[in-house]
Amino acid sequence: MPGVNKFDPRKHLSYAPPKKVLKMTDLGYAEDTGVSPVAVSHPFQLFTEEAVDLMRTEIFKKEVQEECTFGSNLAPCVLRGYAKKHAPFTYEAWNHPDTLALISHIAGVGLVPVMDYEIAHVNCQTKTESQAKEERERSQLEDEGRRGCQENRADKPIVGWHTDSYPFVCVLMMSDCEGMIGGETALRTADGQYIKVRGPAKGCAVILQGRYIAHQAMRALGTRERITAVTSFRPNDPFLRDDSELRTVRPVSDLSELYHGFAEYRLEMMGARIKREREKLAADRRDGKKFDTLAHKTFLRGAITFVEQTNGEIFQQDKVEKGIIDELNLADPEIESERVEPVQSPHVLYS
Ligand SMILES: [Fe+2]
Repeated sequence: MPGVNKFDPRKHLSYAPPKKVLKMTDLGYAEDTGVSPVAVSHPFQLFTEEAVDLMRTEIFKKEVQEECTFGSNLAPCVLRGYAKKHAPFTYEAWNHPDTLALISHIAGVGLVPVMDYEIAHVNCQTKTESQAKEERERSQLEDEGRRGCQENRADKPIVGWHTDSYPFVCVLMMSDCEGMIGGETALRTADGQYIKVRGPAKGCAVILQGRYIAHQAMRALGTRERITAVTSFRPNDPFLRDDSELRTVRPVSDLSELYHGFAEYRLEMMGARIKREREKLAADRRDGKKFDTLAHKTFLRGAITFVEQTNGEIFQQDKVEKGIIDELNLADPEIESERVEPVQSPHVLYS
């Protein structure tokens, strides 16, 4: 169709592997804390500038802005659930097998988007050029030792301490970061310390196993806009553990769409598990084996837990308070430097 840009991995992927990937054990957590030993990646180039610009065109569509905008105490302006209906390029980009292969490779486990509704949740932070300029000048003053302008600094989080609802997120930067101050993600280590991960540049991404690591996004100063797209992932293998919750997304979602996506993929997983168990029982009988009571009861216990978890996430719609997401009550990290470059710590990933 003329005028429609189709995602083409040869044209739109521009992959350069992350310089480093930190393991859960590097942050002090047990290796089996999550669904993979991988905790977080350095920023890495994923999409071309053209691809990100096409994604941007899709999020600025009138119908996306009007129908898919949500706000909460954690983030005042987010776009959610728009990709399947309104953003075919974005939808295809995150579902393409080549994109998934790259992300899975870094994550150390085969991943797929959790559900259509979670493709490319967009965080928007925008301001005027004069505000951005003022922030750059303030920061320069502070750097020169003339402190006194303490407001609105980059050590204030834009999103408070939290863990995500889904195992992995891939955060894609969609803005030009020229002149940006701050904008990092702070991660909590197992011993209560924190590390900072530098935010990615336009077209670059970071992968984080955010379901298991408390983190917060620091405010970005000095630029007119900071737009990030956060796509959530779960293991592709239905036999792997899936601890996904809806805790942080229920208050900022079209609940019907969210529940459809969640209920359907959880049932699909359960279907695969039941099918495999039935085949195993049938094979045992064919081979003349006795019924393995212990093994089947273990399977049933697992199935009950899985169903209970699913049921526990689906709240009646009138029990969901719109726009209110619980934060973790953790102390703010003391960040000594507003700029990302010269932080002296063995834990700083990217400086
Ligand atoms: Fe998060």
